[in-house]
Amino acid sequence: MLRVSVLTILTVLSVNFTVSHSARILGLFPSPAKSHLIVHMNAIRPMIERGHDVTIVTTIPVKEPNLKFRHIKAEQPNLDLSVISQNAKGFLNTMKLMAKVTNNLLNLTNLTLNSPEMQKLMKEESFDLGSPLQHISKLMGNPLELSYVPDLLTGLQQPMGFFDWVLNYVFSGVEFLLLQYMNYRMDQYYKSNFSPDKYPSFEEMKKNVSLLFVNTYLSQGHIQPNVPTIIQIGGIQIKPKQDPLPQDIKEFLDSASESGAIYFCLGSNISADLLTPDFINIMFKVFSSLKQKVIWKWDNDEFPGKSANILYKKWLPQDDILAHPNLKVFVTHAGSGGVTEAQYHGVPMVAIPFFADQFSNANKLQKIGHGVALDRDTLTKESLRKAVLEVLENPRLCGDIFQSIQRSTFKC
Ligand SMILES: *[C@@H]1O[C@H](CO)[C@@H](O)[C@H](O)[C@H]1NC(C)=O
Ligand SMILES: *[C@@H]1O[C@H](CO)[C@@H](O)[C@H](O)[C@H]1NC(C)=O
Ligand SMILES: *[C@@H]1O[C@H](CO)[C@@H](O)[C@H](O)[C@H]1NC(C)=O
Ligand SMILES: *[C@@H]1O[C@H](CO)[C@@H](O)[C@H](O)[C@H]1NC(C)=O
Repeated sequence: MLRVSVLTILTVLSVNFTVSHSARILGLFPSPAKSHLIVHMNAIRPMIERGHDVTIVTTIPVKEPNLKFRHIKAEQPNLDLSVISQNAKGFLNTMKLMAKVTNNLLNLTNLTLNSPEMQKLMKEESFDLGSPLQHISKLMGNPLELSYVPDLLTGLQQPMGFFDWVLNYVFSGVEFLLLQYMNYRMDQYYKSNFSPDKYPSFEEMKKNVSLLFVNTYLSQGHIQPNVPTIIQIGGIQIKPKQDPLPQDIKEFLDSASESGAIYFCLGSNISADLLTPDFINIMFKVFSSLKQKVIWKWDNDEFPGKSANILYKKWLPQDDILAHPNLKVFVTHAGSGGVTEAQYHGVPMVAIPFFADQFSNANKLQKIGHGVALDRDTLTKESLRKAVLEVLENPRLCGDIFQSIQRSTFKC
């Protein structure tokens, strides 16, 4: 989902926080998406390992048996994500979708804050370091630089021509209005959770953000200035050392040494029932006709079809799969997490973006030669097959230019 929105770990430093003293730290990570939690946990892990007294509030389970921290699990509310399957392209649709998604996320944060566990915590305890949800780099006094930095949601790429530039200004203007509205909504939520006799006002709190971690990395983002208090942690979810793959996946991938394997995953939040039968049919027809083995992330009990070269799985160790030497292509929705992992492991992509920053990520990876971007609405068997074959066979995409940061071997 939006990398700038949910992802921010923000810090309100009110007491001296030095490495030699142990601080009381609160991590508030209400997003129900597993992929977000992976990033959050990697950001807070070093603080736990350094012996700080860390409490983490989440709405989904955390599996970290080797870490010592206090975990509070708030109830997971039902979020209406059907908006994702609606048309999210174009200027107005993007704005409408943004408003809906942000409203949903604010509601989610509010519900987390109102859960009994969290209420108890807020009444009885205090922390040195906290993490409210915020996503505006302007908070940190960072310049927008619209003349050469494309707004993430426009999907525009650098360098921008005159019309791109005009579009960027208009888009940012409308986004500004939307953010004013969101700010008003956030203020309402803030007031209903943080009583004025114990907490400063929302406006005042916003001025006191000390540090902002953002889930981007300079080599994959745009050229843009950042003030020193904005720290890029993109790729933090990538493990320095791979975990062993589950046996069945390992055997499946190992057996693909001749033609290679393809990994197809649309992320944690585009579930099977959000896809149209046509889309599923195109995917199945093309994948089942290839000589490559295909690992397909699929969360329904009813499969799109049976084929000897396709392995369906509900949840997959994505980072470890992308690291497998036989993996040749990643067919992805171009979420920022998966794209970063594929870039790290040197796997070229076929990107089919669905919403928000995914269009921008897809355009960008196509532009820098890390894969091919496709349009979901005009997708056909022919266009998908062509894209997959191009990524498999075109040396420009799979070898000569696209080099793995980590590995010296190329993918084809
Ligand atoms: C903002 O930070 C300063 C310095 O740490 C502190 O004195 C002040 O109380 C903080 N204000 C709020 C509203 O937290
Ligand atoms: C917030 O979410 C709850 C539970 O999912 C729902 O009942 C409620 O209508 C939502 N409120 C708003 C303002 O969206
Ligand atoms: C936040 O949630 C609580 C509990 O569900 C609700 O009473 C309150 O009105 C919500 N705040 C806003 C601003 O909607
Ligand atoms: C995102 O996907 C995860 C895992 O599939 C699921 O538990 C969660 O509810 C989804 N999040 C939303 C916002 O639907």
